Amino acid sequence: MVLGFCLAFLGLFIAAFLLGLVFTHFLPLFFNLRDTPKGSFGWPLVGETLSFLKPHASNSVGTFLEDHCSRFGKVFRSHLFCSPTIVSCDQELNNFILQNEEKLFQCSYPKPIHGILGQSSMLVVVGDTHKRLRSLALTLVGTTKSKPDYLHDIERTALQITDSWKDKKQVTFCDEARKFTFNVIVKQVLGLEPEEPQTTKILGDFLAFMKGLISFPLYIPGTPYARAVQARARISSTVKAIVEERRSGENYSKKGDFLDTLLTVNTLSEDEKVSFVLDSLLGGYETTSLLMAMAVQFLGQSPPALAQLKLEHQNIRSCKQEKEYLNWDDYKKMEFTQQVINEALRCGNIVKFVHRKALKDVRFKDYFIPSGWKVLPVFSAVHLDPSLHGSAFEFHPWRWENQSQATCKKFTPFGGGPRFCPGSELAKVETAFFLHHLVLNFRWSSEGAEHPMAYPYVEFHRGMPLNIEPIRRETISRTS
Ligand code: HEM
Repeated sequence: MVLGFCLAFLGLFIAAFLLGLVFTHFLPLFFNLRDTPKGSFGWPLVGETLSFLKPHASNSVGTFLEDHCSRFGKVFRSHLFCSPTIVSCDQELNNFILQNEEKLFQCSYPKPIHGILGQSSMLVVVGDTHKRLRSLALTLVGTTKSKPDYLHDIERTALQITDSWKDKKQVTFCDEARKFTFNVIVKQVLGLEPEEPQTTKILGDFLAFMKGLISFPLYIPGTPYARAVQARARISSTVKAIVEERRSGENYSKKGDFLDTLLTVNTLSEDEKVSFVLDSLLGGYETTSLLMAMAVQFLGQSPPALAQLKLEHQNIRSCKQEKEYLNWDDYKKMEFTQQVINEALRCGNIVKFVHRKALKDVRFKDYFIPSGWKVLPVFSAVHLDPSLHGSAFEFHPWRWENQSQATCKKFTPFGGGPRFCPGSELAKVETAFFLHHLVLNFRWSSEGAEHPMAYPYVEFHRGMPLNIEPIRRETISRTS
């Protein structure tokens, strides 16, 4: 009798709980339905998140967006990441959202991401804290770029990698590209060389950190998410130890890296400084190596583009002494290379969308976006929109010849507005310099077909194995 009563009570409790879930899930529709774009809210709690995140080739928009855009139009409502959401595949609305950061919209990444990146990460902070961190980032990027060793360090690191291929027949390109971008960024930020033990330690922890970023956010010891949070803590303490070593100052001469400048800044807390270092490492590592992999992948499928790229780099090299380093003038001459990079960014869609929320009720054209709703500008949908880019699904670098500034609205691989990526130029220089030594010194072919997939974080399943063959045998390593 008592057991029956308990079971009935439990049943009622569960039913009430489920009803509550259903009610809260659909509640926003009762208040805000008027004029919001058409769409569907999916299942209570998860909404349409699982279909939205369903993996697809990164040079396609995926079935979820195809289906929803054809049913509801380029802007539609949905329920994603536990919030009522407006999804925008419309270039003008995307641009409006990015330009109105902190006025009408605000960066709003899901809470589990805060757990991994840390509360002071530039990607998650908003308002004055973001302004403070960002202005420092821009100053650092500006001063680092003007240093004479900036380009030399990048090229020297590229040569270390390509020199190590001399006796190999096959390389896993994604691993090699990661090694390259990681070595460049640890040198720039912390002044560390690849062979130093701290570099290996940070790299090991970073790999765990990256796996956690793309995992299910469940903090149970042993899960990738929990391992990532722990890896972040370990990277923080390694960085703190480096900071302390510098502060104590014995035998220390300035290395001219980010950390030197960071240590002289009084406007940041200790935590913010460590977060700043982590942001730079994180931002400068995976995305750039993916861009390199995309460029190599697409070039492999387009012999005319590869031939033109090679010619451009042969011309640049022919005007230089044998072991002379590349400089800014050479970089400016890499016009077709820039077109290849742009096209790899457009087709590869390394960052598919960004997270925002509406700070107030917003009306844009016919659309009403209620205050508090999540807003997702989807860049890949604009990059692959056939009404904006002719033969949108084809890799065609020549489309970027003589493009004007108006292109910016339909091409946002680095975001836009007050959160535009501060590392965009570094990523392009790294890719251009690596391509320079790759096309001049190697022939390559892919070992089996492989399509980069958007999970939505882009990944090459097999890491892109390449069969390589050196073109010239003479040594190209140089001293600074
Ligand atoms: C191909 C390479 C890269 C791509 C595609 C890329 C893409 C992006 C995008 C789309 C954003 C905007 C995020 C948002 O609006 O919510 C962003 C922000 C950011 N990126 Fe990059 N990025 C790349 C390389 C880099 C590099 C090399 C660094 C650092 C050295 C970097 C550091 C950052 C930082 C710190 C932010 C936050 C900026 C802010 O919130 O004000 N990124 N990146």
